[in-house]
Amino acid sequence: SFGPNIFVESQWLPFKAAIDSHINKKWSATPIINGQAINEYEVDGVTHQLDAQPVLAPWNHDVSAGEVKYANAELARQAIDVAVAGQSTWQNVTVAKRAAILRKIAELFEENYAELMALCQVEAGKTMQDSIDEIKEAVDFCRFYADEAERLDDVVHEFTDLSGKQSRQVYKPRGTFVCISPWNFPLAIYTGQIVAALAAGNTVVAKPAEQTSLIAHFGAQLMYQAGVPAEALQLVTGAGDVGGALTAADNIAGVIFTGSTQTAQRINQSLNDHAQASGELPVFIAETGGQNAMIVDSTALPEQVVKDAVLSAFGSAGQRCSACRILCVQEEMADDLIELLQGNMAELSVGNPLYAATDVGPVIDADAKNGLEAHIARMDAEPTATILAQTPMSSSSVVSQENSTFILPTAIEVSSIDVIGGEHFGPILHVLRYQARDLNKLIDAINNTGFGLTMGIHSRIEKTVEHIERRAFVGNTYINRNQIGAVVNVQPFGGCGLSGTGPKAGGPHYVARLMQLESASTSS
Ligand code: NAD
Ligand code: ALA
Repeated sequence: SFGPNIFVESQWLPFKAAIDSHINKKWSATPIINGQAINEYEVDGVTHQLDAQPVLAPWNHDVSAGEVKYANAELARQAIDVAVAGQSTWQNVTVAKRAAILRKIAELFEENYAELMALCQVEAGKTMQDSIDEIKEAVDFCRFYADEAERLDDVVHEFTDLSGKQSRQVYKPRGTFVCISPWNFPLAIYTGQIVAALAAGNTVVAKPAEQTSLIAHFGAQLMYQAGVPAEALQLVTGAGDVGGALTAADNIAGVIFTGSTQTAQRINQSLNDHAQASGELPVFIAETGGQNAMIVDSTALPEQVVKDAVLSAFGSAGQRCSACRILCVQEEMADDLIELLQGNMAELSVGNPLYAATDVGPVIDADAKNGLEAHIARMDAEPTATILAQTPMSSSSVVSQENSTFILPTAIEVSSIDVIGGEHFGPILHVLRYQARDLNKLIDAINNTGFGLTMGIHSRIEKTVEHIERRAFVGNTYINRNQIGAVVNVQPFGGCGLSGTGPKAGGPHYVARLMQLESASTSS
């Protein structure tokens, strides 16, 4: 297992009862434009109804979490129009008031933890621990970005030249931001994007991932309840086509995106095409995928390495951009480490995320499951790769593997990084042996994937740690620990290269990037 569960029985039992009371609830999600839940729309005087789609729990397709109505290009256009028209009102709300609203959102998220946790579990298939972490991170984003807005409001850069001429710089809002978020942090990243933009005085059109619209809708309702005005936040449910309509809209100041590298590249292209046609140059912030390695030399503590690698690779069913995908082990300790890894994987509990003992839940949907299964089959057929371990479904977990989207945690030994291909977003860990003399070649091969998100280093030699850290191009390095779970305002998070453009989420430059610096000069 991942280690001692923080939920000793006396603590989690009362907590779990509150969550369970919401598990069988039927939730619904619609677009929300100008404060109105949208069920129909009109074009040329003709009214069209939005279709309702069922939302099925990834761990058991017999369980329905409710239904979602997706927006379309027409509603995306209307949402942008409302947000753009609302910009002047929202940017004139004082920073103190904006910050107070964000802090109120944090409070309401905490008060409504049971509903939010039930949604994380039923809609996204998250385990108890992941659901708690999800809500904590969303709350942290609200409070931190509220603090940031107040800090930046006080920042005035003053400059004086030799003749005494002065200029000063102040931060100002930019305009409407389109915020596009992924399903793997359906509350935390969704909220982080929105509240950062609102803190900066920008209005928001949010498009959450199509797989997790229910929690996004409920989260938006809490934001309105906290005092976010109807014109400042629009919710546009829908898939990539709707996201595409939003990023191609006129008059947006920027796009904040978290998701796959391929989608970021598509959005970048769309913004470029639009810029050519309209002359507008919106800001583009992208946080994307990773091909993250953990490098382990022969001085590392094997039990610690295995504990950290297993949590980093299989925690959240491997559905973290930060997850460890390649465990690189110095040849001298590889056999022992693999044996420990196999033993540790055998202890994982895979199954129903509603059980507090579950370590690994399902992956998000059938597309994800099919892609991951295809990768495991390809590795199985690959002469230079060997399946080292695969954890079966837990016998106590009464869910069927057929009527759900589980991928069994799998460890695969590979002979090179190239053979892995790109990012495989699920509970699959590749193991690669390396010779001490080839350490630089290894680091260069990791750099050559083009991704640069997280890296784990396990070594007791300080010089080795420093050397790897200097040579590797990654956004977040974790030394002698696991490599997931960046904490807001403790480990500002974000990568480079194919992993994103920055600025780092939860760090001191994020809100500032959503604002423009105005320089005002005087004549003397
Ligand atoms: P995805 O790119 O498929 O979807 C992300 C969002 O983009 C969704 O809301 C989707 O509807 C939207 N979208 C899809 N096509 C679009 C288009 N053409 N125009 C506009 N929007 C479009 O990614 P996903 O599968 O939801 O998420 C998993 C990926 O996200 C992984 O690659 C993971 O590494 C990455 N991720 C990165 C971070 C980070 O902080 N770096 C965090 C979480 C996830
Ligand atoms: N911020 C998330 C993590 O660090 C993605 O795991």
